[in-house]
This record gives sequence, structure tokens and C-alpha cells, in this order.
Amino acid sequence: MKVFILLLFLIDYRLCQDPEPFKAIKLCDVCVCSEINDFDGTDLVFNILCSEWDRIKNVTDLDKIEWPLNTNGLKISATFEGLQLNTLGKLPSNSKVESLRFPNNAIEIYWPEPFKDVPNLKKLSLANNKLRAITFDLLKGVEQLEDLDLSDNKISEINQLCFKNMNNLKRLNLQNNQLTMMPIEAILQLPALEELDLGKNSIFDLMLQKTSGNGLIGLKRLSLKGNKIRSVMTHSFPDNNSLEFLDLSNNKIELVEDKSFLSFTNLKELNLGSNNITLIFELPQSLEICILKINSMRHWPTFPSGIKYIDLSYNRLETLYDADARFDYLEILYLGGNQIKEFDIINPLPQLFILDLSFNLLREIPKTFSELNFPNLEDLRLDGNLLERIYFPNVIVLKKLYLNDLPKLVTVEDKAFTNVVGRGVDEKDDQSKCFYLFLTNCKSLSAIHEYAFEGTDVCMLDVSNNNLTGLPRDLLQWGSVSEGVNLQHNPWHCGCELQWMLDQLLPLLYKTNAYLLDNVRCGSPRAVEQLRLVHWYNWTDQTLCADYLRVGPSMGASTTSSFFDFSTMTWILSAAILVLSIVAIGLIIYLVMTRKKYTIRRAAMRRRKQNAADVNSNGHTEQLKALNKT
Ligand SMILES: *[C@@H]1O[C@H](CO)[C@@H](O)[C@H](O)[C@H]1NC(C)=O
Ligand SMILES: *[C@@H]1O[C@H](CO)[C@@H](O)[C@H](O)[C@H]1NC(C)=O
Ligand SMILES: *[C@@H]1O[C@H](CO)[C@@H](O)[C@H](O)[C@H]1NC(C)=O
Ligand SMILES: *[C@@H]1O[C@H](CO)[C@@H](O)[C@H](O)[C@H]1NC(C)=O
Ligand SMILES: *[C@@H]1O[C@H](CO)[C@@H](O)[C@H](O)[C@H]1NC(C)=O
Repeated sequence: MKVFILLLFLIDYRLCQDPEPFKAIKLCDVCVCSEINDFDGTDLVFNILCSEWDRIKNVTDLDKIEWPLNTNGLKISATFEGLQLNTLGKLPSNSKVESLRFPNNAIEIYWPEPFKDVPNLKKLSLANNKLRAITFDLLKGVEQLEDLDLSDNKISEINQLCFKNMNNLKRLNLQNNQLTMMPIEAILQLPALEELDLGKNSIFDLMLQKTSGNGLIGLKRLSLKGNKIRSVMTHSFPDNNSLEFLDLSNNKIELVEDKSFLSFTNLKELNLGSNNITLIFELPQSLEICILKINSMRHWPTFPSGIKYIDLSYNRLETLYDADARFDYLEILYLGGNQIKEFDIINPLPQLFILDLSFNLLREIPKTFSELNFPNLEDLRLDGNLLERIYFPNVIVLKKLYLNDLPKLVTVEDKAFTNVVGRGVDEKDDQSKCFYLFLTNCKSLSAIHEYAFEGTDVCMLDVSNNNLTGLPRDLLQWGSVSEGVNLQHNPWHCGCELQWMLDQLLPLLYKTNAYLLDNVRCGSPRAVEQLRLVHWYNWTDQTLCADYLRVGPSMGASTTSSFFDFSTMTWILSAAILVLSIVAIGLIIYLVMTRKKYTIRRAAMRRRKQNAADVNSNGHTEQLKALNKT
């Protein structure tokens, strides 16, 4: 490897013998320069940002750059990002440079002692490059360095002398490299080290016990997540170490020796999640946060009295902790994905505000769920249990109640939530004592009885994805459910019983949470299956009570307007028939009457003709006289 690098140096060296005249690149001509506040906002910093690789392409090895004048004598912070650099040249001298970053390049090789002439460097990042080994000459001369980021490279080897004399280094990030061993000798050279990230490597052995003595005295945070560690032994860590945070999650740990963590005097947070731990072990007294999720534990470890956060979800617990255990400071308890059947406790959990018991084997809501036992509870998660019935036997005060995925729940009976008292939308609002209820994805849930919420209020009701066909009109005071009602994905029966929903609930939701109406659809009757309820929004008549829904003319989902035509036409047709009948009757009467008159008149005419004929024979002159008069 070293021979290879040397060879590359030689090639590089030869290339540099080009006859081309040396031409310095003024950084502020090709990069963005500005004076900005440094990250804690106290001092001004001269900031150089080079990220447009097309303009600075020719700076392949950085030794031709010229630092800006920096007339105000500020600290210099420079970033050379995404420039496709593959060689790190030796940087020109400058004692004001305190931060150098080369992220997202392709740096594979470096000149010997590249930072030797920037002696006051405090922060250096070579993250996301292609470095394979760290040799003793990379960091030579930067004894002031406090922060070194070598994450996302291909480092498999760290020379044990490479951190020599780095007495000020506080943070070292080696995440996502290819180390197979803890670079323990190298790390031991760092007396000031506080944070070490060795996550996402291939380390299989914890060998920190060698550090007994002076080494790692100040180390406070250590991450070894995502490695291949198989066990934690009594002597894995140095005696009386001062680690406060230890992350061993996502390894392959099966065995943790009983006393392994007793060498920690200050450990606050321990993460052993996503391993394969079966047997319990002792925990240090200082522990506050303990994450043991996704393991194979059957028993509860003994937690120290000051514990605040426990995550034991997805283990194989069948019971709760010993009934007489005390958790006076516990704030969060995750127990989802176990096989717990009962929740019997003697001592209250005065500080608990999240309790997650989802996906366990509870058949009913435990009697121990009470305001006395959980005076500060906010979130209670009981999803995925075997509840056949919802009933809170004791008063409990909550902010959010999760009862999703209950496969055995068919009906929610009267008084189910009567004992649940809300904490309101926000803590300051004393008026509304409402709670959020998530009751979704219960595939058999087909009815909620009218008095289920008697004596209580909800701020939000989510009953989506159930098997509900109707809801009682007086289930809730719908106007006061301020955060919305989600009724989507239920097979609603769009009959007269649901008319109230159209009249009262729909207009409310339409104004405040219209998106919740996207999938409120009828499941029956057939005529309107899959039709969205919002189609009838703004209709003034009692739409769902109309006969046509029961008669059910076969028509598609979008034929609401032809319904309108149909009824109008019926009406017009009936009116027409009525009018026609009246006309016909009138006609008949008329005909009959006129026929009678006709016969009478004909008889009269005949008689008159007869008379006239009689007169004609003798009175012709009298007729002429009458004509002359007129
Ligand atoms: C960069 O190098 C190319 C040849 O590789 C050359 O043509 C170009 O003029 C150079 N640009 C500058 C700004 O030096
Ligand atoms: C660790 O601390 C304990 C008690 O404070 C002490 O008895 C023991 O000697 C210490 N061990 C080391 C290696 O310093
Ligand atoms: C966990 O350990 C058990 C034996 O204790 C083994 O059978 C199982 O395969 C392991 N699981 C994994 C994911 O390594
Ligand atoms: C949903 O309710 C219908 C009756 O409304 C019933 O036939 C069906 O079996 C129910 N589905 C489930 C999963 O219980
Ligand atoms: C309902 O009526 C109001 C006012 O007449 C109108 O602004 C709104 O667009 C109508 N909504 C629908 C869905 O027809």
C-alpha cells in the first residue's frame, strides 16, 4: 500500500515538472468569499466556499492556490466541496486558517504533511472521499486540531502513530469506513478525546480494556452502532471510565456478561437495540436512557432508580416488571411487540407521559390504568391487542389514545370512553378537556353505540379504515370536535339514517378539514356504492331519504343529475296525464250535451220549416213587406 502511494507521489512529482510556468490561483477569483459570523455567532470569519467545480477545475492539487489578503486578520474557514479532487496537495502557508473542509471529493492520495503550513487548524473534514489508509504524515504539524471528520471513506487501516501529538483533538468521526478492528493504539494517543464515532464499520471485537490507565479518560460519547460485535465482556471497557453515551445498536451481540457495564460510573444513555440479547445483565446506577428494543429478552433487567426512558419493544416479555419495583422518574416506557397479558402494578408511575403497550396480548383494559397510577400520562398506545371490548374501569387523564388494529373489536359499547378525561388541545387551555382518539384499522368494527362517549369530549376522532356502516347522530357534539373527524374508508350505508351526517357533519368538515372527505364513500345501497358523500354536499332536500335509493335504478356513481331528471319527468308525466284526463272527460260531457241540444234544435227546425211551408202558400206578400221595411 505504502509503496503504491509512494509510486503515485513520484508520478505526481514528475507531472509537476511540467515546463508550464507557475501561476497562482487567487481563491476569491474562482470561489465565493465572504465575512460571516462563525457557528457560535461570536466572531467574524473569513469564509471561502469553492463548490463550482467547473470554475476551479484546474486546482487539482491545491498547491497552486493563493490565500486571500484577509486585511482584517480574521480567522479563515475554507470549503472545497464536490470539486472532484483526487489528490490533496500541500496547502500554502497561512496561520489564520482554522477550518478546512474537503467533503464530497474523490481524494485518494495526499502529499506528505499537506497541512504542515496551516499550523492553527482546528477543524478538518475529509468526509466522503476515497481515503483508504491514514498514515503518520497526514496530520503532521496540526497539533491544534480539535475536530476531525474522516467519515464515509474506505479506511481500513490507521497507523498507530498518526494521531501522535494531537493533544487537543476532542471529536473524531470514523463512521462508515472499513475498519475491522478498533484502532485502539491510535486512539490511545488522544488524551483530550471526548467523542468517537466508529459506527458502520466491520469491527467484530470490543477491545477497549487495553485502555486501562490513562487512555480514554475523557471519552464521553462512543458510537459503535452497525458493526459486527458479538459479545460484551466484563473487561470490554476500561475501569471507572467516564463514558456518558454508548451506542452498540445494530450489532450481532448475543451475550452480555452480567457485570459488563459496572465499570461505567457516568453512563447516562445505553443503546443495545437491534441485537440478539437473551439474558439480562446488570445496569449502571447512573443510567437514565436504556434502549433494548428488538432483542430476544424474556425477562426484565433491574433498572436503576433514576431511569427515565426504557425501550424494551419487540422482545419476548410475557410479564411486566416485578410488581413492587419503583419507577419514580420514568417518563417514557415502550413495550410494544411483546407478549404481555396483564398490567399489574403496585406503585404509581408519577412522571410517565408515554406508555406504549401496542401489539401485546391484552384482552381488556387493565384496572391499573388510572389517574392515581399515571397522574401525568399523555399518550397511551394499546394498538394491536386482543381487546374484544373497550371499557376503562377507572378514570384516566390522557392527551392521545391509540386503539388501532384491534382485530377482535366488533362494537364499541355505551360508556366505553366515559372514564377517559382529556388534557385538551394545548396544556394552557383549561376549558376543553378533550382527548385525541385513534380508532382505525379495526377490520371487524361495525358499530359504535350512541353513549360510548357519554360524559367526555374528543378533540379529534379518527375512525377510518373500519367496517362502520353508520354512526349515531348524537355520538358527539360534532361542532366541538375541533381537530377533525376522519370517517374515510368505511362502508357507510347511505340511507336515511345517515342523512344527519350530510346535514351536520359534512358542512363542518368541508370548511375545516376538507381533505378528510376524499374517501368518505357509500358502501351500500348498491345504487350508490363507492359514491363520495361529498357529492350531495349543498343539496337542500333530504337526499338520502329519497325513495330512489331504496328502489335502486341501476346507475353509475356519477348519475346524481339523471336522478333529478327522472323525478321531474315523473312529475311532468303525471301532471300531463291528469290534464289530458280532465280534457277528455270535459270533451265527453260537452259532446253528450251538444248532441242533446242538436236533436232538440233539429226538431224545432223541422217544425219551423213545416210552418214556413204552410205560410208560403198564402202569405208571400207579407214576407216582401217585411223585407222592404229593413
Ligand atoms: C484549465 O486547463 C485547461 C486544460 O486542461 C486549459 O485549457 C484551461 O485554459 C485552464 N484554465 C485555466 C483557468 O487555467
Ligand atoms: C474505580 O473506582 C472505585 C471506587 O471509586 C475504586 O475503588 C477503584 O479502585 C477504581 N478503579 C480504578 C482502576 O481506578
Ligand atoms: C438469535 O439467537 C438465537 C439463539 O440464541 C438464534 O437461534 C437466532 O438465529 C439468532 N437470530 C439472529 C437474527 O441472529
Ligand atoms: C363487515 O360488516 C359486514 C356487515 O355489515 C359483515 O358482513 C362483514 O363480515 C364485516 N367484515 C368483517 C371483517 O368483520
Ligand atoms: C356550496 O355552496 C356554496 C355557496 O352557495 C358554494 O360556494 C360552494 O362552492 C358549494 N359547494 C359545492 C361542493 O357545491
